[in-house]
Amino acid sequence: MSGLFISFEGIDGAGKSTHIERLAQQFKAQGRAVVLTREPGGTPLAERLRQMVLNDPMDPMTEALLVFAARRDHIGQVIAPALERGDVVLCDRFTDATFAYQGGGRGFDWGVLEYLERSVQGPLQPHVTIWFDLPTVVAAKRLAGARVPDKFEAQPQAFFEQVSGAYARRLAQDPLRFARIDADQAPETVWSDVLAAVQGKGWLN
Ligand code: TYD
Repeated sequence: MSGLFISFEGIDGAGKSTHIERLAQQFKAQGRAVVLTREPGGTPLAERLRQMVLNDPMDPMTEALLVFAARRDHIGQVIAPALERGDVVLCDRFTDATFAYQGGGRGFDWGVLEYLERSVQGPLQPHVTIWFDLPTVVAAKRLAGARVPDKFEAQPQAFFEQVSGAYARRLAQDPLRFARIDADQAPETVWSDVLAAVQGKGWLN
């Protein structure tokens, strides 16, 4: 595979969306084909699974299995073919979100998640994961009143503390893959940090 695979992570309210769009424009301006996608989702089947995961009450194992089922379809239909073509894949959340939300937030077994990760994706990992790290108290303020919350956005701050802790654990397990961005800064400062992280890899001028 000769493409570039970049994932974006963070707790709800961390503000990753605009930066993903902007990075897509930046790559396109330099002549790269870009696939902008998200998880859970990115294929018709996975988008249907997303609706269930985000709206229907279910136990943590069901949730984990559904996000990995969605991921399996997404990798096979979209991510792997794009990387084989040499495209840049920008993915709004990937497997670290499962460790963070189902592992950290819901307390589901970390080792089982690792087993599912290996089974579903083999050695496939993002080349870099940009983690928008934000104190949960700031995220809670940003989310308050922003829109009708989904199942996860409606969780208490303690849940997001667990989610953040699990992101930190994933970083500690694979520090070279992660670029941690301080998301508690002005949007333009966050953007220059995102750009610098990608440029630092030599992928953008
Ligand atoms: P999000 O990426 O925040 O999209 P939007 O900006 O449209 O709300 O929403 C996805 C939600 O799904 C988010 O709350 C995290 C959750 N999620 C999991 O619980 N497990 C996963 O594996 C993934 C990819 C996401």
